[in-house]
Amino acid sequence: MRTLFKNIKELLQVRDQNIAFVSGKAMSKLPTIKDAYLLVENGLISDFGTMDACPNLEADTVIDATGKMLLPTWCDSHTHIVYAGNRESEFVDKIKGLSYQEIANKGGGILNSAKKLQETSEDALYEQSKKRLDEVMALGTGAIEIKSGYGLTLKSELKMLRVIKRLKESYPLPIKATFLGAHAFPNAFKNNKDGYIKLLIENLLPQVAQTQLANYIDVFCETGYFSVEDTERILKAGKQYGLQPKIHVNQFTSLGGVQVGVKHNALSVDHLEEMKAEDIDALKNTNTMPVALPGCSFFLGIPYTPAREMIDAGLPMALATDYNPGSSPSGNMNFVLSTACIKMKLTPEEAINAATINGAYAMGLEKEVGSVTIGKKANVILTKPINSYGFMPYAFGSNHIETVFINGVKL
Ligand code: NIG
Ligand code: FE
Repeated sequence: MRTLFKNIKELLQVRDQNIAFVSGKAMSKLPTIKDAYLLVENGLISDFGTMDACPNLEADTVIDATGKMLLPTWCDSHTHIVYAGNRESEFVDKIKGLSYQEIANKGGGILNSAKKLQETSEDALYEQSKKRLDEVMALGTGAIEIKSGYGLTLKSELKMLRVIKRLKESYPLPIKATFLGAHAFPNAFKNNKDGYIKLLIENLLPQVAQTQLANYIDVFCETGYFSVEDTERILKAGKQYGLQPKIHVNQFTSLGGVQVGVKHNALSVDHLEEMKAEDIDALKNTNTMPVALPGCSFFLGIPYTPAREMIDAGLPMALATDYNPGSSPSGNMNFVLSTACIKMKLTPEEAINAATINGAYAMGLEKEVGSVTIGKKANVILTKPINSYGFMPYAFGSNHIETVFINGVKL
């Protein structure tokens, strides 16, 4: 199967070599080719260049991309799209001024979603999750990470992870699974937090590892949830089973979670709305990707990750949606791109790098997706006719995508 895209107005995120990620000043550079072609063979990118060098060959499909941009699909490295029902019932309380913590204290929050999920059958959970995955793929997401963490019992955590596995088997895009048993303390363990951590380490973790249902381990390191010490204990245990950390830290408070993540070689540390100078310093010259989730800041009305300051300090940055029912009920990476530019003062080049190559790295997928590089998957977005790529984040809320291709196949 051969597909040839011709007359592409601008081909974005073109990298001759496989790179892991971009950081600091390099984030402001987005390599592109104007008036370009792209050749896809058997689902992979096999050639690209300027139109004057376009090979004269037979293709099964020729797509005329006059006036349109072509770019790698979004790499959404942090989501919770496997959940049951929604939390719209908490929305009005939130509008009236109740905080995330106050809603959780009233019986809402993560435990509310856990109750719903425990009462939902595996098939029903799959059907609900599948709809969300279809939705975000149509919005340009071509690689995604999905977390457990609304089960909070062995049975329900495994149910969530099996649903993620079923999505992996049924869909053509790369999906990574993260075990987030340490998302909240179930009511039964309210006064026995140590008991839940022991259950996680001695019971859930070995089974998750044995069934090979997870690629990564996550902890919600936060005041009222898992302490820095709890986090370290859980990460150490995960490591023994070969699960690399990707953790929730500094959403509401800076406690030292970033440092623990770095110490245990976390692939990413996510949220980072509250950052002290020492948290930024701890991330310098490490392999840990900072991940900002501006949809969560937008929805909860909490500060945005100081991404401008972090990039200026030389750090890399990835962007993800955090799609979940409580703090970010949207999986729209295009909105995340706009929010990153408008609210976090990233340039369009920085935001596109953060949402593609750096997001791919934050899922361990930088060799497969995230750039236009020979040998990578042809997971690409073809835009509607637009004047420049900056128009995508600028004209927020509109859909600038015409077609999404996964492995070179039109959605
Ligand atoms: O990333 N903060 C922790 N976990 C999710 C929210 C979970 C929920 O409220 O259901 C997050 O924001
Ligand atoms: Fe999250």
